[in-house]
Amino acid sequence: MDLHLSIDPDQPLAAQLYRQLREAILGGRLQAGERLPPSRYLAERLQVSRKTVSEAYEQLLAEGFTSTRVGSGTFVSSLAQSAAPTRSAATSLLQPAARWRRLPVAPFDSPVQGWRYNFAGGTVSMRRFPLAAWRTSLQYALRQMSQGSGFYAGVQGQPALRQAIARYLALNRAVRCDWQDLLVTQGAQQGLSLLAQVMLEPGDRVAMEEPGYTPARSCFQSAGAEVIGVPVDDEGLRVDLLPANVRLVYVTPSHQFPLGMPMSLARRLALLEWAREHRVLIIEDDYDGEFRFQGRPLEALQSLDRHGLVAYLGTFSKTLYPQQRVGYLLMPPGLHEALVQAKLLGDRHGDSLQQLALAHFMERGEFARHTRRMQRLYAERREHLLLRLQGDLATWLQPIVPMAGIHLAALLRPGVDPERLASEMRSRSIGLDSLAAFYQGPAQAGLLFGFGCIELDDLQAGLDELRLALQAACQ
Ligand SMILES: Cc1ncc(COP(=O)(O)O)c(C=O)c1O
Repeated sequence: MDLHLSIDPDQPLAAQLYRQLREAILGGRLQAGERLPPSRYLAERLQVSRKTVSEAYEQLLAEGFTSTRVGSGTFVSSLAQSAAPTRSAATSLLQPAARWRRLPVAPFDSPVQGWRYNFAGGTVSMRRFPLAAWRTSLQYALRQMSQGSGFYAGVQGQPALRQAIARYLALNRAVRCDWQDLLVTQGAQQGLSLLAQVMLEPGDRVAMEEPGYTPARSCFQSAGAEVIGVPVDDEGLRVDLLPANVRLVYVTPSHQFPLGMPMSLARRLALLEWAREHRVLIIEDDYDGEFRFQGRPLEALQSLDRHGLVAYLGTFSKTLYPQQRVGYLLMPPGLHEALVQAKLLGDRHGDSLQQLALAHFMERGEFARHTRRMQRLYAERREHLLLRLQGDLATWLQPIVPMAGIHLAALLRPGVDPERLASEMRSRSIGLDSLAAFYQGPAQAGLLFGFGCIELDDLQAGLDELRLALQAACQ
């Protein structure tokens, strides 16, 4: 196969390669069953790193454009080709705006594959979801709706839900909160998107943790911002390395995403002081701090803030389930009106039925009960995972022990070939994210272990398989 591929060194390389290969598949230049060039060969030909090629190949694999056969390489899948005529015609006639063409491919746009051992981040245990209690709340919400006006609801979301969230935040997260300042969103992601929309002009600069939450980075980039990765250490964001002239800083202080350490109190205070001095918005993403396993929680940036500089984001994706798409944004005073306007222009308001049901679920204590139950379950999984990572897997992996959250990161020790490991894991059906997916610049080699949905037996069996994969990736 001699495929023409051209790479612009100033644009994200893996994303370009992925797009060109995808177009070649959809356009029929690469035929079903055809083998893609070995990653080493293609990397040499294009003068890019092998990691770049592997990233593009992994994305194609994750989306079903290709499949792998152990020992013989990567092949164009027949399924992908069947979608070819319509999709390729559409992609060649229309082009999105330039900043969307330059956007690196977000790694989270495809559903979790059917892994036998699923350690993927962002998952929760649906098996444990209290269906009967939720059904009662939904029925209550339906009755409420049937007595409603038949017109749209308020843009900020159902008052009953905002009041329940405000009580919850005050009690559990020590977040000072007037329910009138809460905006109910479609997950934390919509909160990010609204903040990007109202804060950023193309060309603005944004600072965020490196490594960091890739969907947040992509969201700022899609608004035309230049995102600057600021290193983290064991106290969280290096405030002393923040660049000048940024419009906003995005952080995950309760449980740094993806590495897991909390931001120290000293850093929190330093960040607030820095933001005050430079008049910069801080986005505090408190996405899974509900699940704490040791130590006392540190005060949220929002509750330490005296100058209205913090936008606090929360979500029910971890405490309930991600497909529910309910999150919230505690709006800083200066942005209140613009954010409400942006929400109205985007989707007006979320699903009132879900919101009323959730308010009822919280008011009846079901939410607190479920969270407590899950906390015990996750604590057990975390303990077993850490015992293994610090025990028989310690030869290859060095875990970063987090105090909170439902995933943890472990660094790969020298001597393990990450690409071989990835292919060994695939062939053993182990779903584990690589830390590389969360870096903008050069990455530390490591793995992210989500323990939201994996049952204890599978967790142990999956780690047995992982040990075999690690052994094979070292020879
Ligand atoms: C850092 C971070 N923020 C937010 C979220 C949740 O996003 P959403 O509420 O849009 O599901 C996640 C989920 O994995 C996350 O890891």
